[in-house]
Amino acid sequence: MPSLTLHRVPASTVQPLRFAILRPDRPYAESIYPHDDDPETLHVALMRDGVVLGSVTAMRQPIPEQSDPTQWRLRGVTLSPELRGSGYGKMLINIGIGYAARQGASLLWFISSEYAVPIYLHLGFMIRTDLSFLDPNSPNPFMWRPLTPEDRDLGDPSLDRAAP
Ligand SMILES: CC(C)(COP(=O)(O)OP(=O)(O)OC[C@H]1O[C@@H](n2cnc3c(N)ncnc32)[C@H](O)[C@@H]1OP(=O)(O)O)[C@@H](O)C(=O)NCCC(=O)NCCS
Repeated sequence: MPSLTLHRVPASTVQPLRFAILRPDRPYAESIYPHDDDPETLHVALMRDGVVLGSVTAMRQPIPEQSDPTQWRLRGVTLSPELRGSGYGKMLINIGIGYAARQGASLLWFISSEYAVPIYLHLGFMIRTDLSFLDPNSPNPFMWRPLTPEDRDLGDPSLDRAAP
């Protein structure tokens, strides 16, 4: 079987997997995120034989109602079901953390899927409930963690180069 490989790719390469895994019941346009095409936004695809089986996106985006440009957002963390539970998800998340840290991010935040909350808690992220824009009844919590200088060593710096 061909091996799995990682590639920095344009947003359009990962949007179909986001749609299939994260929002299959919503319009496709919701899988196209603001800032997807910003030059510094990172999209990495985990691929086998040309097929995208996993993805991660990291983008500069302040927390809503804040304006700190050192705040980065993790988005579109996806993995095909057959690959889950073997460390590939952590690998993708670490790629996003490491890239954001190397761009000078002070923290990484995201709105988690219900499914992934225990995984992110295990990986050291925390839940915040005190932000005024949050819906207290949502099953999708706001999660975050500050980034440290050590985080710059995470992921794969060779993927930091812009996509062709
Ligand atoms: C989220 C996702 C990418 C994680 O990938 P994964 O392959 O399942 O996760 P991994 O096997 O890499 O596990 C990551 C870590 O979480 C731990 N973990 C896994 N399930 C856990 C659970 N239920 N509770 C606590 N820890 C858990 C693992 O042990 C591992 O930690 P370790 O390296 O210290 O052992 C994947 O499950 C997925 O695509 N889910 C559906 C889409 C989704 O919800 N995406 C998140 C959007 S915010």
